[in-house]
Amino acid sequence: MKHVFKEGQSNRTLLLLHGTGGNEEDLLPLADMIDQDANILSVRGSVNENGMNRFFKRHAEGVFDEEDLIERTKELNQFLDDKSNEYGFDRNEIYAVGYSNGANIAGSMLFHYNDSLKAAMLFHPMVPRRGIQLPDQQGVNVFIGAGENDPICPAQEAQDLKSLLESANVDVELFWTNMGHQLTREEVEAAKAWYQKL
Ligand code: MLT
Repeated sequence: MKHVFKEGQSNRTLLLLHGTGGNEEDLLPLADMIDQDANILSVRGSVNENGMNRFFKRHAEGVFDEEDLIERTKELNQFLDDKSNEYGFDRNEIYAVGYSNGANIAGSMLFHYNDSLKAAMLFHPMVPRRGIQLPDQQGVNVFIGAGENDPICPAQEAQDLKSLLESANVDVELFWTNMGHQLTREEVEAAKAWYQKL
């Protein structure tokens, strides 16, 4: 997968996952705000939807191609295994930072694999899949940043995601703004404060 890796000075690695139509450069300023010492692994989604990069296919807005989602989640998990060996970062210290479609693939990692992520900051996520048993995620922490007026990732999705993750023993903090789908400074600062306490 196309990506950038920047070596830091701590054993933490921020895994950056952009939104639909973005690329591996998008969330670099966010990583800088959250943790300037961490390693950074920023990945470009390998699905191309009419010229827009994504992490998995969809049938329509908010209607995911489950088969593709499962396959791409596996691919990303394997990619993390491979890159931790290649670059020498700690596979057990990966903190995902995902926005929108990137948050959804990070959520999918937690829905399908344990030991895939140490923690995740999910900005404007949806429930990646319904009707499955999640692996036990005891010890995993998740921050969800959601907008009460988000037309793309409705508020109920954030609530449901919180409940489903909690059913798998994830410790979840759900942070609301009254905004829409855009990423706000307010939620990034809340995520940073949360991250610093981990
Ligand atoms: C998705 O497709 O993952 C969500 O609808 C959010 C987005 O548009 O990226």
